[in-house]
Order: sequence, then structure tokens, then C-alpha cells
Amino acid sequence: MTAKRNIVTLDGPAGVGKTTLAKRTAQALGIAYLDTGAMFRTLGWKLGADAASLSEAELTARLAAFSFSLSGSGADTVLSVNGTPVGQEIRTEEVGMLASIVAKLPAVRTALKAAQQAMGAATPLVAEGRDMGTVVFPEARCKIFLDASPQERARRRFDQLVAMGETPDLEALTEQIRQRDDQDRNRAIAPLKPAEDAVIVDTTTLDIDGVFNEIMRHVKANA
Ligand code: C5P
Repeated sequence: MTAKRNIVTLDGPAGVGKTTLAKRTAQALGIAYLDTGAMFRTLGWKLGADAASLSEAELTARLAAFSFSLSGSGADTVLSVNGTPVGQEIRTEEVGMLASIVAKLPAVRTALKAAQQAMGAATPLVAEGRDMGTVVFPEARCKIFLDASPQERARRRFDQLVAMGETPDLEALTEQIRQRDDQDRNRAIAPLKPAEDAVIVDTTTLDIDGVFNEIMRHVKANA
């Protein structure tokens, strides 16, 4: 049996609260967090949906121009691309959809998996995304899969976007989240699903403190 690695994985669908909870868990553990959605968002934003029409060789060459790095720890962890911290511009639902489009491409998944595993080899992590427990860190010491109804996730995303000064439409947001779920769950490579050894936490009726306490309970049980 392979040794368990000092990595906590948080996977789950769009809008379930993974980033907030990964940040908080990392802060409590005094380690870094890795927001892998931000990596796919950055590539979606920089390459656009046209990436899907590039040849494998062209896309691989384009991807070589992006280098991701992680610095700091806890809530102060910073993810950078080519030395520049990833900013708020990637946080829209439109960029989320572009991320989901490029996330289906084998060359993109291969490049980001290598970058994510290199970061995990260098430092203990709370790693959040869709395939952290299944594909990228199968040997993680604690795997958690967060879920919630699409309506509840859309409502949470709505609140987040309002806090960022945007004026989202709740119905449109619910539909976008459903589409993105479908795309993430049904793709051929690294689809969104819980690892066999993941603990599933349904957060629909829990507030953020309730979910955080649940996560910490599992983390401690797997220390
Ligand atoms: O989590 P977030 O909404 O930021 O992720 C954006 C998109 O990136 C997801 O909808 C998904 O398609 C993709 N993604 C992925 N694998 C991950 C993280 C994100 O495919 N580990």
C-alpha cells in the first residue's frame, strides 16, 4: 500500500463553497491551499473557447507558456501564473464556463495535473477541485466530497457575485450551474465524482461553520 500523503482533498460541484472552506481549513492546519478551479479558470480566460479547436500539438505548445506557482500558507496562500497573482477577473460565471470547456481537453488536464502534483510534492496542501481525490492525489490522507442542491449552490454563488458588486440573475445562474455540472460530471477524463474512499458531506442545510466543523472532524480522524 502506498503511504498516505499530507494532503486533504475537497472536491465537489460548482458553488458548493470549496474555495472558502479550503482557505479556512488550510488556515486551521497552517498549510497552503490549492484552488485548482482557479488554474482552469486562468487557462479558460487566457485561451478562450477556441482552445478546443486547436490541434493537440498547438495546444500543448500554448500551454507551455503558463507556469503556476504557490506561495505563503493558510488564508494568505497566493496562486500565481507566470509570477503574477491570479486576480478577481476570473471569478465570473462566464469564465467558469470557459474553464469547464477547456477542462475537457486532454492536453489541458495533463499539463495542470503535472503542475498540481508538483505543488503537492513540494508542500502539504488542502487541494480543492473536481478530481483531487480521484486522479491528482489518490494517496491523500483525507478526502472530502462536498455537495448541495443546484438551487442552493446558485443562491450561494448569487450572494458571492453581489458581494463582488455584480448584478447577477438567479434563474440564469441556476441554469449555468446546471450546465456546468452536466459538463463536469459527464466528461470522458477526470469527471466530477467522489473518490471511493471520500467522505460525502451534503451541505444543503448546513451553514459555513457547520460544514467547516464537519471537515475538521474528518481531518482530525485521519491525522
Ligand atoms: O471550482 P471552479 O468553479 O473554480 O472551477 C471552474 C471549472 O474548472 C469547473 O467547472 C471544472 O470544469 C474545472 N475544474 C476541473 N477540475 C478541477 C477544478 C476545476 O475540471 N480540479
